Parts: sequence; C-alpha cells; structure tokens
Amino acid sequence: MDMLRNAVNILRKGGLVAIPTETVYGLGADARNSDAIRKIFSAKGRPSNHPLIVHIADASQLTDWAIDISQDAYRLADAYWPGPLTLILKKSPQVLDLITGGQDTIGIRVPSHPVAQELLREFGSGIAAPSANLFGRISPTTAEAVQEELGDVVDLILEGGMSEIGLESTIIDVSHESPVLLRPGMISVMDIEQTLQKRILRRQVDSPRVSGSLASHYAPQTETYLISPSEIFQFLQKNSSRIALVARTIVEVSDPNVEVISMPDDAKAYAHDLYQTLRFLDQSGFEKILIETVPEDSEWDAIRDRLIRATR
Ligand code: TXA
Ligand code: MG
Repeated sequence: MDMLRNAVNILRKGGLVAIPTETVYGLGADARNSDAIRKIFSAKGRPSNHPLIVHIADASQLTDWAIDISQDAYRLADAYWPGPLTLILKKSPQVLDLITGGQDTIGIRVPSHPVAQELLREFGSGIAAPSANLFGRISPTTAEAVQEELGDVVDLILEGGMSEIGLESTIIDVSHESPVLLRPGMISVMDIEQTLQKRILRRQVDSPRVSGSLASHYAPQTETYLISPSEIFQFLQKNSSRIALVARTIVEVSDPNVEVISMPDDAKAYAHDLYQTLRFLDQSGFEKILIETVPEDSEWDAIRDRLIRATR
C-alpha cells in the first residue's frame, strides 16, 4: 500500500506519522532517532521528562528494547499482545534517554490495529508514540480528531477508522518483583490477576512518572463536572446556562437549556464513545458539560479514572 510506504519513508527521515491503534491514535516517530523524538515533545507541548511508549510489531522484538524480562512479563505479553496493554520493563542500555525521561525503565506495547501492525512490520523497528493530542487534552479516536488537534505539525495521518477500544492502554509495571498497575485500561486488573495468578498492586494516584496521572488530564476545555443523578437535579435548579448532560440512566430533563446525550449502558460501548462524545461537546458551545457518574464495578475502572481526571 502506497500510504504505508510513504509513512515508513517519513519515519525513516525523522518525521511524524499519526497512527491509528485500537486504543487511541498515536503520534509516532522513529524510537531510535532523537531529533524525531524531540519533535513529538514539541508538537504535543509535552514536558520532556514524561516517558513515551515504544510500539513494536511483536514480542520477539522485546529484547531490542528491554532487559531482565520476567516470567510475569512474558505471560502478560502472551495473553494480551497484540492488544491494549503496555508493559513497563527495565530498559536496554541503547534506548534513548529522551524516550524514558531518563528513567531506567521503558514502556512497550504491541498494538493490534491492522494499520499499526502493518506499519510496524514494514518499518521493522520501534515507533515511539504518545496519544496524538495536545498535552493534557482528550486523546483522539479518529483521524479527523488528530487533524484538528495536530494537523499542522504531523507529516502524515494514517486513516484507520474509529479506535475500537477508545481509551488508552492498561499500563502494568513489571520491572520489579511485584507487578503494579500504573494506568487502568479496558484490560482490567482482575484480568491481569487472573492471568498471573497473583495480586497486583495499584499505584498511588499522582505518582509523577506517568503523565496521564497528573490531576487535570484527558480534559475538555469546557467546564466539566462529574455528578451523581441526585446532584444533577440540584445543580440544574440553579442553572440558567446551556448545558450538555452526558447521561447513562437519566433519559429526560425538563430544563430546556439542557441537552441530554445518552451513553451506552455497557462499559465497552461507553469507552468506545466517550472521547469522541466529549470532543464533539467541547466544540458545541455549551457552557458546561455534566457527566453522570458510572458504576463502581471493575469493568468501569478505566472509564471512572478518565472521568475523574477530565473533571478536576
Ligand atoms: O493506548 C496507549 O497507550 C496509547 C497508544 C497510542 O498506544 N498511547 C498513550 O501514550 O496513551 P501516552 O504517552 O499518551 O501515555 C503513556 C503513558 C504516559 O502517562 C507515560 O508517562 C507512561 O505511559 N509511561 C511511559 N513510559 C513509562 C515508564 N518507563 N514508566 C512509567 N510510565 C511510563
Ligand atoms: Mg496521552
């Protein structure tokens, strides 16, 4: 495919290619080229000490990037790659400091999206790619969203349809004896615990090493609140502004200023739609966005995490 060859050439020359993945779109560059990596940071406005995930075609390339790879790491790679899981491993000495933010670990993922897969195979090496959004904003789940967000700084955007999962990958740190969850994703902690047959520690919130753990992240620019159904009606009593209500159980509100956007009941379908919905609402001139709280069940963990961050 011409487009892919074009993408590979751009990567080889140190350019930036936006890549569709099953989680969200990534802003990709050659992981062995420090000038290319610098472009990622400046395009996103991202602080340079925030490490990047390196994407590879399959687990056989792991040893090009990581050392001391544990049994747990291989077990997780076997079970979930290609797919929405990032492993944090001890980095191999030749990995650029720019990628790891100077840390001794590296994040690695094998995406399953066919376009990402084909590109990685053609390219033959690792592609560093953060989500293709400006720092702190909502990750893009379509090529159009990347175009809006970073259109003037990427050399090419590969079209891959809407990301199937819609939320960023689960991140598990397997660089030490005990695996630790650094970022919840649609592969749940329970899935991971079942695979490894052991308990996984949850990282304390706001450890500075994961940029997605900063308080305000994944955020719309419109004032956004996470609010339970009982609070919603209180909130609306004092309201006179145009509000979007991202609802799950509420179907109707009598206030004519309020537009109800009904979200799916199912966690997977909700995750798939969430960023696209928030992005759209952010551009629709509402004064506020209210989001109805979601269930406490573990399948909603990743969604709850992103909603809390979007509304701080
Ligand atoms: O689904 C995803 O993971 C998407 C797609 C494009 O693969 N990528 C993504 O990248 O979400 P980014 O950069 O937006 O988020 C990656 C997170 C960041 O919070 C970063 O700090 C963390 O992974 N991370 C990367 N390397 C790390 C490391 N060595 N130790 C701890 N955290 C790391
Ligand atoms: Mg991101």
